[in-house]
Amino acid sequence: MRWAPADVDPVATFARAPTECLRLPAEARAALSVEVGRAAFRTPVLLGGQAARAGVACETCHKAGRSNPTFLFPGVSGAPGTADVTDSLFSTHRGDGIDNPKPIPDLSGPKAKLKIAQAPADHKLEPFIHGLVTEEFDGPEPAPAVLDGLAAYVRALSPAACPKAASQPVTVAYLLADARRAVRAAQGEMALGDAPTAVLMLASARTRLGLIDERYADPGLAALRAQLRAADHRLAEAQDAVRAHSPSIGADLAAWLAASHPLEARLAAREPASLFNPALLTQAARRRLPG
Ligand code: HEC
Repeated sequence: MRWAPADVDPVATFARAPTECLRLPAEARAALSVEVGRAAFRTPVLLGGQAARAGVACETCHKAGRSNPTFLFPGVSGAPGTADVTDSLFSTHRGDGIDNPKPIPDLSGPKAKLKIAQAPADHKLEPFIHGLVTEEFDGPEPAPAVLDGLAAYVRALSPAACPKAASQPVTVAYLLADARRAVRAAQGEMALGDAPTAVLMLASARTRLGLIDERYADPGLAALRAQLRAADHRLAEAQDAVRAHSPSIGADLAAWLAASHPLEARLAAREPASLFNPALLTQAARRRLPG
């Protein structure tokens, strides 16, 4: 809400999200790469620096891989839906001192309309994304599988893959499904022996739990919130276990995935009392203080 105009329609903007226009490749290794990119796209930890501190991820601007017509970040946006990606707020490398916000492009639009050629043979997309992460956002050097995954994810977005409905409700189930996909991507990367990528995947799962947590801020939901935080804590421990190459990590992640289903059921039972309820969300948006 902090990054949207005050007069934004809270239900259209925060209770719903655009649908994702993604087609997963049939081949397992290629599909894992897209899943790695998909999860990396959804966590500020990829970007590091100011962006990470503010909680900005690729997906903040490119919602579900699309655009974000209401994005308004003080000092970074001009009109809503624009961003100056050479702004020194996010970058010590690229700050050009010039105010030049550009519309956030829909990455799922026709490839011919996009500026950066995506054909693998052109070798344009990976360097572009590398520059975004390390220079524009001052992020740490991404693991090779993460960079490849981000490019694979962007390539797998296309208008032909758009579902019929343009948007879908944002729910506990929607965010937990993303968290599980990220944990499965971590399992896949562990199987390949890529610990740094697996750690980032778990960070992405944690980001999704954080997005649920912020909508369960009502004191009456404190017990559920504690359970959510315990689930997050287990993922933090799993990150340590991955770093330490602990042999129990496979079982730990499998146990986390299994436990996520009853957790989802408990959260869903109280979802109407949380800010996932559009009516409560609208009230909260009205209470928002100016600035
Ligand atoms: C602060 C908002 C913001 C964030 C965060 C962001 N982008 Fe973008 N992105 C933009 C804007 C604005 C443009 C258009 C820049 C231009 O036109 O010069 C863009 C352009 C792109 C393009 C090129 C589109 C084309 O026309 O070919 C790709 C690909 C892309 N972003 C991917 C990403 C990825 C991957 C991340 C995360 C690493 C990311 N973006 C994070 C705002 C953002």
